[in-house]
Amino acid sequence: MKKIGIGFIGFGTVGQGVWKNLEPQREELENRLGVKIAFPRIAVRDIGRSRDVDVPAQIMTEDPYEVINDPAVDIVCELMGGTGKAREYTEAALKAGKVVVTANKALIYACGQQLFDLVKKHGGHYYFEASVAGAIPIIKTLREGLVANRFASIAGIINGTCNYILSRMEAERKSYETILADAKALGYVEQDDSLDLDGKDAFHKAVILAFLAHGKWIDEDHALVEGIRNVTLEDMDLAKNFGYRIKLIGLIRRNFKTNALSLSVSPSLVPLDKTLARVDGVYNAIKLSGDVAGTTILIGRGAGRDATSSAVISDIVDAIIGIRDDAHKFFTAADIDANYHMGENLRMATVDEIKSPFYIRVTVADQVGVLADIYRDLAELNISIAKVATYEHRETGTGTVTLLTYPTSESTMEKLFSRFEKIKNILGRPLLLRVYESVRG
Ligand code: NAP
Ligand code: HSE
Repeated sequence: MKKIGIGFIGFGTVGQGVWKNLEPQREELENRLGVKIAFPRIAVRDIGRSRDVDVPAQIMTEDPYEVINDPAVDIVCELMGGTGKAREYTEAALKAGKVVVTANKALIYACGQQLFDLVKKHGGHYYFEASVAGAIPIIKTLREGLVANRFASIAGIINGTCNYILSRMEAERKSYETILADAKALGYVEQDDSLDLDGKDAFHKAVILAFLAHGKWIDEDHALVEGIRNVTLEDMDLAKNFGYRIKLIGLIRRNFKTNALSLSVSPSLVPLDKTLARVDGVYNAIKLSGDVAGTTILIGRGAGRDATSSAVISDIVDAIIGIRDDAHKFFTAADIDANYHMGENLRMATVDEIKSPFYIRVTVADQVGVLADIYRDLAELNISIAKVATYEHRETGTGTVTLLTYPTSESTMEKLFSRFEKIKNILGRPLLLRVYESVRG
């Protein structure tokens, strides 16, 4: 019987989750797959650190090359994170023709194309189901289940930490900082928490989805990326009054007529009656609008030890089958080329083409004429108002004006905000959020 060795580089939240959930079902998997499974080596930063699972001390090392260069290791699970050393080790493993399984979306964003090129050159393999949306099998869904479709829209809640923070802030009226500390304790948050809070982690995931669905790598200069730091409880309440909840939404839209693609990650108002508005806590949800299947929504846990290990184990099983049969199903050289080919004539949409309704919250000095100034600028830019609510704060002599607009372009909004800077009774920079409009499949 063929023996397949699984090595780890990184054995923290996710790595230990894989061990915890894979080791007890090793025998069953061996019977099902017809191979022997071994765990020859695990590399960590600090071998002296206590672990939550029992592993034989002799397989632990602080040198990742002992994993990469061990002939008994066929599958290298890169579960350390980051884009520095993780890149070096991933490249070394792929150059050695090994199969790499990862959850590292930041690395795929940073150098996915180069890593795929190494797969093509050296015949290894790269699996990354756990990189997007935790337990939700979104990569498989795009590659297999919904392969017949072209997607006009892929919209989702794809950062568990932000969804956990926004949901609990709203439900429990607790501060952002308190809930962030809980999310850290639960293992949801990236080592660099700004990746989550500033929308970059969701952006990396959206880029991976856009590459799979449309064959194009998108960089930060061609996308809108905003996080949740400026969203207040007041905004959540005001949004609710208008019939919405605020969610961090990753949105990939393609106009097949003009062949333009857009990608954004931003805190967005989602109508209360939409499924995405009701997905709370660490759960993620992805709504795919396909031309053949219509609308498909996947919901599941988006972060944490068990959820993420579920996706890593799924990749490990696929990798074992690929090695056993000497035939990997996806991300073979031909498959990677076909993916690149898909995006060849695609262009990024301009800021004039990207449109949505907007939510604007303006703090003003409670002075005669300030509303007239705001309305004048909106009218001159041809921005139509759908809803308005105003509140006075007598104790401070200020007021809050909240507006919902009809769909207008990002470029028009930029112009409006430049004009707002000239209105002396507008205090500070107004908050601008997008309103999510669903697209039918
Ligand atoms: P983590 O808990 O911080 O674990 C990182 C592990 O990597 C630790 O075992 C650490 O060793 C090891 N490590 C760090 N630098 C190393 C080095 N230079 N050489 C060898 N080992 C090194 O991180 P995690 O939450 O498991 O995340 C791992 C990856 O999964 C990241 O790419 C993350 O983005 C991704 N991910 C995480 C989640 C989640 O919910 N946590 C979900 C999806 C994807 P020590 O233990 O000795 O410090
Ligand atoms: N920090 C990430 C999140 C982990 O909260 O979604 C899962 O990718």
